[in-house]
Amino acid sequence: MDQPLSQAALNRLFHEARTHSAWLDQPVTDETLREAYDLMKMGPTSMNCSPARIVFLRTKEAKERLKPFLMASNADKTMAAPVTAIIAYDLKFYERLSQLFPHYAGAREIFANHSELAQITAMRNGTLQGGYFILAARALGLDCGPMSGFDNAKVDAEFFAGESLKSNFLCNLGYGDPSKLFPRNPRLAFEEACKLL
Ligand SMILES: Cc1cc2nc3c(=O)[nH]c(=O)nc-3n(C[C@H](O)[C@H](O)[C@H](O)COP(=O)(O)O)c2cc1C
Repeated sequence: MDQPLSQAALNRLFHEARTHSAWLDQPVTDETLREAYDLMKMGPTSMNCSPARIVFLRTKEAKERLKPFLMASNADKTMAAPVTAIIAYDLKFYERLSQLFPHYAGAREIFANHSELAQITAMRNGTLQGGYFILAARALGLDCGPMSGFDNAKVDAEFFAGESLKSNFLCNLGYGDPSKLFPRNPRLAFEEACKLL
């Protein structure tokens, strides 16, 4: 645990990983999607509440259901991606706390009658898990194209009618074509974004 990852691993996860919009003709197997989830699920969430839920759209038919609700500039790359993940969260995540946090009998009641707390907890931890998912996918050699440019309410009506799930963001998955990348934008330096107190 006390050794940093190799430079090659850091490059894969961070320095050389890019947001992709163009995809090589290389499929993504269901097995790889399962592996990505099995890595993602190990990332920490508050009270181990694990609110993220993912729907993987792998077929043209499934993607066509999503297409009308995408921002125009996100449509072509999404239709071309081997897989598009709807990263969602379950507002009723607390119904699983007896399984996920069994040593604390009162865990469910903290959220069950407090919808605002449940909402913010689901969104915060579901978003964290979405970030873990991107890193998990990259660790397995996949490339990601996350997107928030879509109509969440309409996607929820299409895919989650009658359920307690809410879409958070979408993530195209595949093997990216590096020749189609734009130059990378800069990031804030440590001094610009951090304080040492
Ligand atoms: C939550 C999230 C939402 C995003 N939404 C969109 C989007 O709707 N359309 C798009 O073209 N790019 C979108 N992006 C891509 C970002 O602009 C991109 O990840 C960022 O500029 C960093 O690019 P890089 O990874 O190549 O350095 C989104 C990224 C994230 C993480």
